[in-house]
Parts: sequence; C-alpha cells; structure tokens
Amino acid sequence: MSLYAAFRSIGAYVPEKILTNADLEQMVDTSDEWITKRTGIKERRLAADDESTSDMAAKASQIAMDRAGLTHEDIDLVVCATVTPDYFNMPSTATVISDKLNIRNVQAFDISAACSGFVYALSVARAFVESGMKKNVLIIGAEKFSSIVDWTDRGTCILFGDGAGAAVISATEDKSEAIIDIHASADGAYTDMLITPAPGSVHPMNQANLDAGLQYVQMKGNETFKLAVKTLTKDVKEILEKNNIDAADIPHFIPHQANYRIIKAVGDALGMREDQTVLTIHKYGNTSAASIPMAINDLYEAGGLKHGELMLLDTFGGGLTWASAVLPFAGKNA
Ligand code: COA
Repeated sequence: MSLYAAFRSIGAYVPEKILTNADLEQMVDTSDEWITKRTGIKERRLAADDESTSDMAAKASQIAMDRAGLTHEDIDLVVCATVTPDYFNMPSTATVISDKLNIRNVQAFDISAACSGFVYALSVARAFVESGMKKNVLIIGAEKFSSIVDWTDRGTCILFGDGAGAAVISATEDKSEAIIDIHASADGAYTDMLITPAPGSVHPMNQANLDAGLQYVQMKGNETFKLAVKTLTKDVKEILEKNNIDAADIPHFIPHQANYRIIKAVGDALGMREDQTVLTIHKYGNTSAASIPMAINDLYEAGGLKHGELMLLDTFGGGLTWASAVLPFAGKNA
C-alpha cells in the first residue's frame, strides 16, 4: 500500500496593528497613490513589540492542529520557514514553537528560503510523510518582517508586513488526497538581489556593521521584479504541463503576495481569470514565508476552499529561491 502526503488543514494569525499607506506617507517620501499603483498594497499588519515570530506561529499552528483534529501528541515533526527567527542562529524558531504548543521529543527545525519557505517546507513534509518516516507534520511560515526593515528606506519599508500561517501534512493511503507535485529551486548567483547582510559570519554583529545598517533587508527591487515574473511564469507553466493540468481547471491560484503586478503578469501568462486568483496583498502586504498560508487561510475562512479542490501555489524570494506546487485541499470544509 503506497503512502501519500495530504494537506489536511490550514490556520493563520494576523497581528492586530494596521499600518496604512497614509501612515507611511508620514514616515518616508511616498504616497498612497504610488504604493497602490506599483504594488497593490493598501495596508499591512505589524506585530506588537513584545510579540515574536514564534508567538504568531504558535497561534496559527494551534488553529491548524485543531482543524486537523489533532493534538500536540500527534505531531511528529515541526518545520518552520522564516527569515525573521526569534533568535538568529539558535535555538531554531521551530523548537520554540514546539515548546509553546507542548510538542515534546520530536524533530524540529527551521528552513531559510525567504518567501519560498512555506512551499519548501511543504516539500520537506511531503518527503518525510511519503517515506513513512513521519505521520503528521506541522509546517509553518511565520515572519516578523518589521524587525528587519529599515523604516527610512522607502524602496523596501512599504512592501512588508508581519503574520503567520500553518498547515498539517498527514499520511494517507487515499491517492485522491495526495499532493500532486512540488517544484522547489534556487540560484545562488543572485545572492545580492535580496539580502540582510548582518548578522552572520560574513558581517558579524558589531557596531560598525550596525552603523552601516547591514541588519536591514536590502533589495534590488526592479531587477527582482523582472526575474520573478520570468521565472515564475516558466515554472508554473512547467508544473501544469508536466501533470497534464489545464490552468482553467485550477479553482484556486494562490500566489506569493509580493506585488500585484507580478501576480497579474504571471496570471495573465497562464490565462488565469480573476475569480481563480486569491489576493491578500492589499491588506497584508508581503509577509514573506507567511504569505501563502495566510492567503490559503483567508480563502478557507471565507468558505471558498472545499475538500478536494485543487490549489496552485507559486512563490519567489531571496536566495534567489522559487517554488510551485499543485495539490488538493484534503481538509474538512469550513
Ligand atoms: N514611493 C515613491 N517613489 C518610490 C518609492 C516609494 N515607496 N520607491 C521607489 N520609488 C521611486 C524610485 O526612487 C524611482 O524613482 P526615479 O525614477 O526618480 O529613480 C521610481 O520610484 C521607480 O523605482 P523602481 O524601483 O524602478 O520602481 P518599480 O516599479 O520597480 O517598483 C517595487 C518598486 C519595489 C515596488 C518593485 O520593484 C517590486 O515589487 N519588486 C519586487 C519585489 C519582490 O518581488 N521581491 C521578491 C519577493 S519577496
């Protein structure tokens, strides 16, 4: 009997505080009109000062576990995708989340793949489950991106927000529930496109590096934009062709929410209709690894995602990394 990996549930946590484009107009030389036109973002959420990535992640995870009908005792692997961990280097945010959820004595680790992190985590969960090594994997995409943003840099600070999303990936023998395919790729030739230079072994934490602002995210926005459109269009076309799936037959296209113009360009190249495309960019901005699970959760809570319906995910981020996935939702209806 073959084992398959099923996307069993979704959960998310959205911080309370809202930062609008009007608020940003007071902080940097920008305008609501520019941000809306160039990105599609109207507002984003910010975590409270005393709210960590793991706090948000644990709340999203508890919802995902409850919706899967599982307790902390059922989870046998925790994987957290984040580039804004509670602690740089150690311990991993996944271990902190495990503690907050009372998940004991199981493997737990982080994935660093920037905005592609959640789909990377999905591919890892699938491999563990299909190999028979784990039964119920908790995967999380969580970011307190506000903690690495330079709030004086208008090229980046308008884009990002905070939040968390989580899912449970479980073993099944029912092939109709199985994740169909995942592509996950990286190209290190583009390291400097999107980078937080410090702290790390190249630029350790010291006063000179802090004074130079190396702890903040740096992005070559326009070049990243062009690469994202080109790479994602090719990757998503490939995954659909490989699996003989027509874009018109995908009810839910759930792209990474970095820029509305990227989503639109890739969607148009695939011939996606507006009603197929899930959009949260206007209210959350770019929440990096949390973006896709937060979008899936929005769709689910609105009653728009039913058991067995196909999702097409695509994402692109620092590394550079990119990934796409085709899978049915294998959870209970909301
Ligand atoms: N408000 C007003 N003007 C701004 C601005 C802001 N917040 N940010 C940049 N500008 C200005 C620039 O200074 C530039 O002015 P200039 O022509 O006088 O030099 C002009 O707007 C155009 O800048 P450019 O960077 O070419 O704009 P853009 O159309 O590429 O939009 C981004 C900028 C960041 C919105 C866009 O490039 C983007 O979304 N990039 C990809 C983000 C992404 O996908 N990241 C990876 C995944 S996480």
